[in-house]
Amino acid sequence: MQLNPFKLERYFARYEFNVEYLLCSSDSQSLAVQDLLALEPGAEERLQKHWLGYTESLGAPTLRQEICRIYSTIQPGQVLVHNGAEEGIFLFMLAALQPGDHVIVHSPGYQSLAEVAHGLGCEVTLWMAREENDWMPDIDDLKRSLRPNTRAVVINTPHNPTGMLMSHHNFDQVSRFTQERGLQLFSDEVYRESEYDRSDRLPAACDIDEQAVSLGVMSKTYGLAGLRIGWVATRNAGLYERMLRVKDFTSICSSAPSEFLAELALRHREKIAQRNVELITANLALLDDFFARHADKFAWKRPKAGPIAFPRLIGEDIDTFCHALVTAAGVLLLPGSVFDDSGNHFRIGFGRANMPEAMARLDDFLQARIG
Ligand SMILES: Cc1ncc(COP(=O)(O)O)c(C=O)c1O
Repeated sequence: MQLNPFKLERYFARYEFNVEYLLCSSDSQSLAVQDLLALEPGAEERLQKHWLGYTESLGAPTLRQEICRIYSTIQPGQVLVHNGAEEGIFLFMLAALQPGDHVIVHSPGYQSLAEVAHGLGCEVTLWMAREENDWMPDIDDLKRSLRPNTRAVVINTPHNPTGMLMSHHNFDQVSRFTQERGLQLFSDEVYRESEYDRSDRLPAACDIDEQAVSLGVMSKTYGLAGLRIGWVATRNAGLYERMLRVKDFTSICSSAPSEFLAELALRHREKIAQRNVELITANLALLDDFFARHADKFAWKRPKAGPIAFPRLIGEDIDTFCHALVTAAGVLLLPGSVFDDSGNHFRIGFGRANMPEAMARLDDFLQARIG
């Protein structure tokens, strides 16, 4: 298996832990262990007594039970817990695809959603979302991408890097298209429950399609990336079994304290998600103001969910701009080139508490250049 370098990870590796302001993170503001433990009386004592042996390969039964509450049709035996969403993507691709299969992947996007299939020797067609369509991918393009050997369709909504959310109608069309043609749908839903308007929330793919796989994680909506707990939910028993068998060769099981803390957090997931969406929407108001003031310099498409958006820089090269910004002002933006985007876009992340300070730095940087 031949994997190309993960461009986003390599870019972050240069800066993530030595730059003052990360203005491009894809996750929400995190919590400390003590904040989680304070959510329930007795939680601290229970954690101290928590056993540190191997855990169940499927994920702790009580954690899987808690994850089921996110869905309407899923039973604990249909949830497979793993380490981050990243491992779930890997397990799915290894379990579902063969070299020579054709896979259609929603793009631009999180690289491993296409890269792992490509590395396995699959043919990959990128189903492009475009700025002029408000980053909504076109269903006719999806239909035109179909080949006799198409095996799977991979989508990500709410979407990284654009913050776009498919409409209910579009999501339904994708679901019907894959079901009618017997294609495997893999739905990356790591930003689900971070919609600014609750009525925009889509059903989970695993609830409307018996074969589909929904991917979830603690990192994004709940801001708990350090737990490294993710999961897939699916009623497709054969695929579930195959993923479980691949997991024997990756992590075997998850970290016991992380499972404990993830379960605790999920019992309070609505409260945690609400806190994060409040921070995100307060910060989004700052972005609206910023982009209105700099309309000659940036093209702005307002996102609908999550802590990320994908604006376009006007009049100069985005890679050069990001480099100048991080060097002079200690503020990191993510150039679209790490998503193989050639449209001069960049990812901005606004889920962190220090985002207003980072924006002030960005404003100062722009002012200083005007003179
Ligand atoms: C769309 C998407 N899927 C999966 C992942 C992987 O999540 P994790 O880092 O928690 O494994 C990310 C992380 O940025 C993501 O944005």
